[in-house]
Amino acid sequence: MSAADAPRNGPPGRTTLLVNGRARAVEADPATPLLYVLRNDLALNGPKYGCGLGECGACAVLVGDKAVRSCTVPLSALRGRPVTTLEGLGTAEAPHPVQRAFIEAQAAQCGYCLNGMIVATVALLRREPRPDEAAIRKALRHHLCRCGTHIEILAAVRLAADRAAADLAEPDA
Ligand code: FES
Ligand code: FES
Repeated sequence: MSAADAPRNGPPGRTTLLVNGRARAVEADPATPLLYVLRNDLALNGPKYGCGLGECGACAVLVGDKAVRSCTVPLSALRGRPVTTLEGLGTAEAPHPVQRAFIEAQAAQCGYCLNGMIVATVALLRREPRPDEAAIRKALRHHLCRCGTHIEILAAVRLAADRAAADLAEPDA
């Protein structure tokens, strides 16, 4: 079942979300999972529908600085907290440093899992700018990649982490 086919039960109501720095009004049942609204109403297709059960990580977004699985978060749980999707991190012309590291490490095969991998990495580096290997593996351990590009994904996260650490180490100009 795709997100487009997913049931949307109950009467609609107006909810205002703060997504990628913009207030967005949506008409939806407050119980609607955030993922459906992002993809179906706001045309933000970075977050992917994988399992719909909170198990694969493909749908991850940032709520504040925390990575959450948007397929399991109802609109009513957001209460004005800022949501950042992959689209809010960077663009094709100006990718986020983590996106750049994933490109350079050639971490994509089909790419379906990468939204979640990148969002989880951004959240990791915000809370722990110098993660060791164990911390990286722990942050990604519940993100599934069916293509088996785990080695390249880990290399991408290490690259992004090394650059973040180097930036922190640079003396002020
Ligand atoms: S689609 Fe949300 S965790 Fe799999
Ligand atoms: S690159 Fe295909 S699922 Fe990870």
